[in-house]
Amino acid sequence: MEGQDVNSKDEMLPVDGPGWSYVDGVLHCDGMSLEDLRRSLKRNYGHQGSPAHIYSHSTLVANVKKYTNALSPLGERGVLSYSLKANNNLRVLEALRQAGVNMATTVSGNEILMAMKAGFAATNIIYNGTGKRRWEVELAIKYGVLLNLDSEFDARLIADVAREMGVRARCLFRLNPALNANTHPYLATALADSKFGVEFHQLEKVLQAVRTGESGGEEHVTVEGVHIHVGSAVSRTQVYADIARAAARTLREFPPQIRERGWPRASTINLGGGLNIRLSGLSGKNEERPATPEKLVGAILPLLPEGSTLLLEPGRSLVATAGVLMTEVLGMKVNGERRFLMVDAAMTEVIRPALYGAHHPVTHVTIPSSQERAVMDVVGPVCESGDFLAHRCMLSPSPSSGDALVVWATGAYCSSMASNYNLRPRAIEVIVKAPDLYTVVRRPENFGDLISCYM
Ligand SMILES: Cc1ncc(COP(=O)(O)O)c(C=O)c1O
Repeated sequence: MEGQDVNSKDEMLPVDGPGWSYVDGVLHCDGMSLEDLRRSLKRNYGHQGSPAHIYSHSTLVANVKKYTNALSPLGERGVLSYSLKANNNLRVLEALRQAGVNMATTVSGNEILMAMKAGFAATNIIYNGTGKRRWEVELAIKYGVLLNLDSEFDARLIADVAREMGVRARCLFRLNPALNANTHPYLATALADSKFGVEFHQLEKVLQAVRTGESGGEEHVTVEGVHIHVGSAVSRTQVYADIARAAARTLREFPPQIRERGWPRASTINLGGGLNIRLSGLSGKNEERPATPEKLVGAILPLLPEGSTLLLEPGRSLVATAGVLMTEVLGMKVNGERRFLMVDAAMTEVIRPALYGAHHPVTHVTIPSSQERAVMDVVGPVCESGDFLAHRCMLSPSPSSGDALVVWATGAYCSSMASNYNLRPRAIEVIVKAPDLYTVVRRPENFGDLISCYM
């Protein structure tokens, strides 16, 4: 716990993204000093200006380009769909669409509506849910959204709703390939006993449900292909080769009636998302170096059946590194052997450490002049011992109240998982585009917002 010196390489950027740089010891986002941004937010929003989710526009765009370049050998048969669950900020969605994302993957009726609001054509939206509600299925079918068939009961509901509406529902089968993606158990979705998807040997039964569900005919469902998503924070290329093989085999060995009964377009292979991001430096907690989109697509391409369309639907790898959470120091205390740095952000803004033991590096916005560092646990004001942002960070041993820190890689699964626990308002969100061009894309909540639902 004693202070110790670090060399400058320990202050290097923990994420890879063109928008982030330290200039004269101050963190910049797309050319704008975060100290300047902080002052500006304070001026305009007072105490509600912190904590703040900050997104780098150039990093969002660069992340999209990595995928679109990787998919380019496929031309129109290589499709990039963004998973809204990672970050559902309307303006982030618009930025991703404008940068070249073709489709949006959703998991709820409201995500479908949000994707449409962001300008995605309804027919370019995928609705993937393991427990869809009738109103959500009605909404999806009404607008021509592509639905994943996740179970027998799901298939029956979809077929019935389509029959009632007198239209055809466009569908993919979500398969469970019983594959271990070597990720946190809460992030694995294709283990043999996961709740998601249909096992290969059950496909026939699900087809049966489509046919017999009071609907009396599969003409209300069009099967366009298969979908596999093995989980999130997956690093190994091999996993993608394995699922590509499983999907190709499924298409080849589809129950014969899929083609016989007029579903000739069953040629889409959706291999989900899941690609991890790379974090480096600072903590020494480097994980396995994750595959790049280029490597991932490279491993899949040779396994694709002739003429099939490849769909990828990443969330984290498109947005995580584009976001940081800027927070201010409230004070420091030592209890027992541990030094706690208390900040104004909490598990309400970044729940991943508490939920999955996820690691988010923390650095100073302005690098302290002294090279002395101490091991600190960065914690928030929420009344839970599980409320921490990061353990064992190397930070200045004598921070002042009001000093700014950033929690890295918070662009994914942070604002979209935020809560109002302890009646904390949701934080302000900002996109930075240039040295003096930032936009507040979600205003901070206030007490009025928190009380507005009470009757
Ligand atoms: C079906 C599906 N597709 C894509 C994703 C996106 O995953 P990630 O954000 O890890 O890329 C998820 C998230 O778990 C998912 O459930």
